[in-house]
Amino acid sequence: MRLLPIGPDLAGDLWLAHQDDDVARWYAGRWSRDEAERAAAAMGRAWHDDGVHKWLAYARDSGELVGRGGLSYAEVDGRRRLEVGWAVRSPHQGRGYATEIGRAGLAHAFGELAATEVVAFTERHNHRSRAVMRRLAMTYVGEIRRPGLLPGRPGVHDDAPFALYAAGPQPTP
Ligand SMILES: CC(C)(COP(=O)(O)OP(=O)(O)OC[C@H]1O[C@@H](n2cnc3c(N)ncnc32)[C@H](O)[C@@H]1OP(=O)(O)O)[C@@H](O)C(=O)NCCC(=O)NCCS
Repeated sequence: MRLLPIGPDLAGDLWLAHQDDDVARWYAGRWSRDEAERAAAAMGRAWHDDGVHKWLAYARDSGELVGRGGLSYAEVDGRRRLEVGWAVRSPHQGRGYATEIGRAGLAHAFGELAATEVVAFTERHNHRSRAVMRRLAMTYVGEIRRPGLLPGRPGVHDDAPFALYAAGPQPTP
């Protein structure tokens, strides 16, 4: 897998990643070109300002776009924390790519960034993403509430339950 930092130059591929049905389902719908361009620009700024943000992932053999993921800073339970995440386009799921993206994120965090903690969180009912967290040997910390999806209900809800996992020294939820 090849991991490239997302910036304005990769807005087209970021848009493509968010056209996948399964990715769109967990990111509250398909992104428009405009949304993808704005997100890519913001990610480019974050790479510049914070030295880290999400990557796009490409298969090494075919060069195909696998998905997105990696690290970014997020406000989690009132604190700015380093978060690791993943989203893999449907045809590439079930092959360990998300775990590989997560492992690369953790290695970067605890290596180059000398982080002491990395968290991951997902809607309580996103079992496939929680399985990646477990595969990465991240520890379940507890439940948090933030804007997100509820099972069987359309739209984004302010107070959705999320499962919080951590790697490194154990944080309080
Ligand atoms: C969450 C998501 C990334 C998980 O993808 P995934 O393909 O299930 O996860 P992995 O890449 O770790 O692959 C694991 C699967 O590959 C298999 N696998 C094959 N080779 C593997 C390897 N070398 N290492 C790990 N797993 C491997 C595992 O057995 C597992 O199979 P299973 O699905 O039958 O249990 C994917 O479902 C997705 O993109 N969903 C939509 C977006 C999303 O929800 N993102 C998370 C938001 S928080």
